[in-house]
Amino acid sequence: MDREPIAVIGVGWVGLVTAACFAELGHEVWARDIVPEKVEALSRGEVPIHEPGLPELVEKNAERLHFTTDMGDVLDHSQLLFVCVDTPPTYSGDADLSRVEAVIGELGESSDHALVMKSTVPVGTGRAIQRRSNGLGYVSNPEFLKEGSAVQDFMHPDRVVVGANSDSDGYADRVAALYEPLDGEIVRTDVASAEMIKLASNAFLATKISFINEIANVSEELGADVREVARGMGLDDRIGPKFLEAGVGFGGSCFPKDVQALKQLAGNTGYHFQLLTAVVEVNELQKRRTISKLQKHLGPLPGKEIALLGVAFKPNTDDVREATSLVLAGRLAGEGASMRAYDPVAGRKAENMLAGARITDSALDAIDGADAVVLVTEWPEFKELDWTGEVKKRMRVPLVVDGRNFLDRDALVAAGFTYEGIGR
Ligand code: UDX
Repeated sequence: MDREPIAVIGVGWVGLVTAACFAELGHEVWARDIVPEKVEALSRGEVPIHEPGLPELVEKNAERLHFTTDMGDVLDHSQLLFVCVDTPPTYSGDADLSRVEAVIGELGESSDHALVMKSTVPVGTGRAIQRRSNGLGYVSNPEFLKEGSAVQDFMHPDRVVVGANSDSDGYADRVAALYEPLDGEIVRTDVASAEMIKLASNAFLATKISFINEIANVSEELGADVREVARGMGLDDRIGPKFLEAGVGFGGSCFPKDVQALKQLAGNTGYHFQLLTAVVEVNELQKRRTISKLQKHLGPLPGKEIALLGVAFKPNTDDVREATSLVLAGRLAGEGASMRAYDPVAGRKAENMLAGARITDSALDAIDGADAVVLVTEWPEFKELDWTGEVKKRMRVPLVVDGRNFLDRDALVAAGFTYEGIGR
């Protein structure tokens, strides 16, 4: 295979995973970020994010990975510019494309480069960019990486989407060739469809989660167990078993943002996307349902001490964006409860975001003297705690709200705990 020199613009989480994985596949990679401290740290081999396998890849491929702040440097070395900058939501719910625009601004009149858009952008963005930039190539190549398994996801994709309009077919061929050594199917399409595949996929997965959360809420009332229900549903090939785990709601940097973005895009065309409106609302309510479960057993919450286990929006990441823990802490504070919170990696990062919760250095410190434990994030180490011994001994009231149906309910109940799961 020909080795294609690659540029990665924006070395955040997506950019760094992309850079490191392309280097692992044998390509020279010029990775450019505007923050000098980040570039210096990366050049020393320091990886600033928590992502399994990533530090090892960066170290192993150090010779092929060139970190720089200089755009001229990357333009000299590569024609394919993988754009991996942030596109956060604005107050209106639309995507903020200012960082993408800044990159385009730096390219000037270049006609021998192509933007390969990995950042999630509204459907129609690619065409609009192409219309006003003379000769600049454009390929949509959305990322589908999950935090915590991003390296694995990159190297073993379910599919790779490469979208281009006819004037950029040559660039699209080169992008597709980069992924050929991987096992996933390559989906070639036009730019708008590629952009839509990304948003629709995330919106569909979010819908699946809100759906099972509603089934859980109804199951609680009707005496069914949502885990059994999900297992029975998931064996139907058309449904599939994944993303049917009921819990305290979805969070993270993608689902909430992308569902909102698609709803907004539809709205901008005059179409009211009813289903997604409900998906968002169900998720917001789901994040708050734990409060009534606590009140059911503890009564009013002033003076009660609640232990939150897990702060990150899911395990194996230190990311707390849109995490349920933040909403829960805010609501608990509003109800007058005191809180202690522990997370194996995200605790300190969330220190000032958790509405007055005290961050502890261990799960047992958080649990000490608590009236209830709320398991928010299913970190494996929480399963290993000595629940029936040390945990029970330390709690004032042995009440567990298991927000992820993660713990051994029967063992806890047998040991005298009051156990509340989700949808059981
Ligand atoms: C997601 C998409 O999976 C990925 O393809 C996209 O590129 C970025 O967004 P990520 O945000 O890393 O990835 O997290 P993911 O593992 O998908 O989980 C999202 C949220 O849904 C988490 O809060 C998780 O706890 C929740 N979830 C997931 C459930 O509540 N139930 C499930 O069954 C699955």
